Amino acid sequence: MKTIIEPFRIKMVEPIKLTTPAQREEILRRAHFNVFQIPAEEVMIDLLTDSGTSAMSSEQWAGMLRGDESYAGARSWYHFESVLRDLTGMPHILPTHQGRASERILFELICAGQERNPILRSGEQPGGQERNPILRSREPLVIPNNNHFDTTRANIEHSGAEAVDLVIDEGRAPRSRHPFKGNLDPQKLEALIERVGAARIPLCMVTVTNNSGGGQPVSLANLQEVRGICARHGIPLFLDACRFAENAYLIKQREPGHAHRSARDIARAMFDLADGATISAKKDGLVNIGGVLLMRDHALAERANNLLILTEGFVTYGGLAGRDLEAMAQGFTEVLHEDYLQYRLRSVAYLGEHLLAAGIQIVEPPGGHAVYLDAAAFCPHVPPARFPGQAVVCALYRHAGIRAVEIGSVMFGRVDPVTGAASHPPMELVRLALPRRVYTQSHIDYVIEATIEVFERRDQLRPLRILEEPAALRHFTAKFEEM
Ligand code: F0G
Repeated sequence: MKTIIEPFRIKMVEPIKLTTPAQREEILRRAHFNVFQIPAEEVMIDLLTDSGTSAMSSEQWAGMLRGDESYAGARSWYHFESVLRDLTGMPHILPTHQGRASERILFELICAGQERNPILRSGEQPGGQERNPILRSREPLVIPNNNHFDTTRANIEHSGAEAVDLVIDEGRAPRSRHPFKGNLDPQKLEALIERVGAARIPLCMVTVTNNSGGGQPVSLANLQEVRGICARHGIPLFLDACRFAENAYLIKQREPGHAHRSARDIARAMFDLADGATISAKKDGLVNIGGVLLMRDHALAERANNLLILTEGFVTYGGLAGRDLEAMAQGFTEVLHEDYLQYRLRSVAYLGEHLLAAGIQIVEPPGGHAVYLDAAAFCPHVPPARFPGQAVVCALYRHAGIRAVEIGSVMFGRVDPVTGAASHPPMELVRLALPRRVYTQSHIDYVIEATIEVFERRDQLRPLRILEEPAALRHFTAKFEEM
């Protein structure tokens, strides 16, 4: 049989409100052409994000009822800890309320001024004493990654450090069919270390899969090579492992020599190469809220636990309820079921292949959790300064009630505060992210049909201008006007 079915039955349904084009026009204008400002009820197919939008299984819901809400040492904590230990092999497992909480704790410890903070001082820094003179010299620390996700970049910059993207060149070329476009370029990493010195690089990250670069996977061979470089220079390697299971399955499918291995075994091999990881469980944890911070270094873990207690909660619940820990424990188990992963990656590929066949340029090949439209190719008459991605996002909502997200000059463009000159990211993308286990094939067929219809009238897409924007993460709240 060629057909890959959804490997689940539906036992509870949530109605979708169907809106008319006239209603959507009005809603879009009220939201100032920013789909983050549209009430979710007014969206027919919500592809804004795959984060926290999963449908939980009957076993996860059963776990919610079994949740132990004791303050310290709850049964649910031990269950969660044993699942994560088995999956990752990491000795220190800290629960957090979501990925960015893990990032904040990690970067506050690694990058921010330790001299003034007794909590942060109560241990050695990984890498030893030789880093301290650098911290005192006020030269910014540098954190490389294949591509930093926006909250990771914001947390790093907030701590005073600099976030640098070192993805391979193919990772910036939408048409390249390189199987591992998420790979971090080893030569660029060596060059960075040479330029700034290893002492200014307290940590190297690799994001699996590479969300900002199109949801593209990172190969095991690349992780091994990056690990080797980091080890030679005494730089700890951390994974941003939000989508570790999708990355593992793409390794199984695409990297020679791994087809016979289980996704679980490959995932473990990925974690074995790292000194730690930040995870948003809202992706491959198959839950609506939750996160994890993992590490091997005992002294760093001691400081992280102190900060966790200060800002998230006691170390056995980290800002979550016992029931959330149960749902995560079950989610991190289910996500590695291969029937699920095969269906999951097939649905993303199905959407991508149909759009490509209609002549719509996407980031090829389709990645793990989303299809990324190349908005620069979609509407070449709209220059980066007039936000081609946002124009496509508005058109998809207007035409079909589909909510996508711009990942281009709105999200990553910068205006120099001194010269006023605008800089633009290398790609103008629109992400169609698929929530896990939520939509069926007919929903995907509707998205394909709508996107093709918008593409057929692409010359009518309107450039936009920003009317108001906040100082950081402007994509959430900026107000636009059509020109
Ligand atoms: N790292 C990556 C690669 C992410 O994709 C995200 C979130 C985070 C970290 C932060 O996790 O949201 O739990 O705090 N990505 C979501 C998205 C928001 O839509 O891609 P969080």
